[in-house]
Amino acid sequence: MSVSVLDHHPLIRHKVAILRNKKTSMKEFRELIEEITLVMSYQAFQFLPTKTVIVETPLEKCEQQMIDEKTVAIVPILRAGLGMVNGVHKIFPNARVGHIGMYRDEETAIPHEYYCKLPNGIANMNVILLDPMLATGGSACDAISLLKKRGVTNIKFMAIIGCPEGVKKVTETHPDVDIFVATVDRELNSVNYILPGLGDAGDRLFGTK
Ligand code: PRP
Ligand code: URA
Repeated sequence: MSVSVLDHHPLIRHKVAILRNKKTSMKEFRELIEEITLVMSYQAFQFLPTKTVIVETPLEKCEQQMIDEKTVAIVPILRAGLGMVNGVHKIFPNARVGHIGMYRDEETAIPHEYYCKLPNGIANMNVILLDPMLATGGSACDAISLLKKRGVTNIKFMAIIGCPEGVKKVTETHPDVDIFVATVDRELNSVNYILPGLGDAGDRLFGTK
């Protein structure tokens, strides 16, 4: 298990600062989520296996290393995870996409699953689970459990804003899952929102409030 916090990179710090700003428009918020995911993907995908292929340059044949994109599955947690999908698809346009629908009860913050559609053969794929917010960690833990029940053994979780409570819960519940997070904030407030955070990611992405 490992937790990689990627805010050592000035590009991540810069984009996250704009993302948090309450004056950032829905359009810009959506673009930033995608851009940050793209930048984070360089780190999160360093584990991927490559296979040897022969490439013919204009001058000669040579051995090269390539990733089999069909072994990569992107799984966003709905709704907010949807905003991260294109960031990964820019790198792996042929990666399959699964969807897990979860919403937190507004009073208890307990997650409820309402949808799940995963690609055939997901058990043998390298799965990158996406959700911009890691708050109590309940949604991420339940989504990981669901993937494991479907036989998936290789899971990485990518979030943009985390907090100590969420990181602790996921690492304790699923110690085999590597976590990549752009930044880890101070704490949760009394209604389980991240401080300083960015508010409700789903609402800001889709303009629902
Ligand atoms: C948000 C967010 C995560 C979850 C994180 O989703 O996108 O999925 O909360 O909180 P947790 O770590 O405490 O589980 P929400 O349930 O608000 O649904 P939405 O994406 O549809 O708005
Ligand atoms: N979900 C969000 O969208 N924001 C938070 O701060 C916590 C959970």
